[in-house]
Amino acid sequence: MRHDHLITSKQLSRADIETVLDRAAEIADDPAAAADRHTNALLGLLFFEPSTRTKMSFETAMKRLGGNVVDMGSVESSSVKKGETLADTVRVIEGYADALVLRHPKQGAAAMASEFVDVPLLNAGDGAGHHPTQTMLDLYTIRENAGLDDLTIGIMGDLKYGRTVHSLAYALTNFDTRQHFISPESLQLPREVVYDLHQQDDTQIREHEALESVLSSLDVLYVTRIQRERFPDENEYQKVAGEYQIDLETLEEASDDLTIMHPLPRVDEIAPEIDETEHAAYFEQAHNGVPVRMALLDLLLSGGEADE
Ligand code: NCD
Repeated sequence: MRHDHLITSKQLSRADIETVLDRAAEIADDPAAAADRHTNALLGLLFFEPSTRTKMSFETAMKRLGGNVVDMGSVESSSVKKGETLADTVRVIEGYADALVLRHPKQGAAAMASEFVDVPLLNAGDGAGHHPTQTMLDLYTIRENAGLDDLTIGIMGDLKYGRTVHSLAYALTNFDTRQHFISPESLQLPREVVYDLHQQDDTQIREHEALESVLSSLDVLYVTRIQRERFPDENEYQKVAGEYQIDLETLEEASDDLTIMHPLPRVDEIAPEIDETEHAAYFEQAHNGVPVRMALLDLLLSGGEADE
């Protein structure tokens, strides 16, 4: 895989991550200095699944760097409706744009599509697979709030289908972390992910069904939505829907410094009463998507991606 495609967080070293986060911090400090870095650059947006934050923050990021976007629009209004293959679609759009962002319901779609294009391709979510640009903004937010080394993090909710979880868990193995995975048994991390994480020296991982058993030890609690659209059977979703909600009462045992994150959108996992507390970092996390994606695009479009 070419290093300037960003497909999974497994391909990222600590140096890669730090390069992006440091650049994002510079941009966040002085966004105006980046305003004409990529005048005339065009980013191709191919979203085969719904998106608010990811798509709009990529668009904002490209425009804030002086560039613009070309957007395939909805699947309904594109030639995909006529039966065009993903390989053909990306081959056409790479002729219009300097980099591509792809979100697709099929796991592995971004890796496959990247084989067909020469411009950098960024995976913005492939089914229940990975979402590495979300991970970059998650890491940025963790670094700002709790620091990335000697970190105890709880990752809770849909660990089976949650692509943000998979990407984050792999990326955190570059740092000295204790990862606690909290979910119903039916939504545990895929076994191959657990196996891979166990191979990493600096990472300790544990799986739990109850948040209570670990809550007081956590620096960060990363909450996720049950990914309803990925369940083959709605009845299976109904069995777990509404589990693992947190409110002020749940947090009684938590450290005062606990940072609560969520990739959003939330459904009912985090009670709105938490929004006004010092714990809540999820809106800040979403806003960090802009400087972090500006940094990623800047590095990719300048050809200055971090060395492997
Ligand atoms: C996530 C996704 O699409 O995987 N959303 C996002 O990009 N912030 C999380 C989710 O949909 O639950």
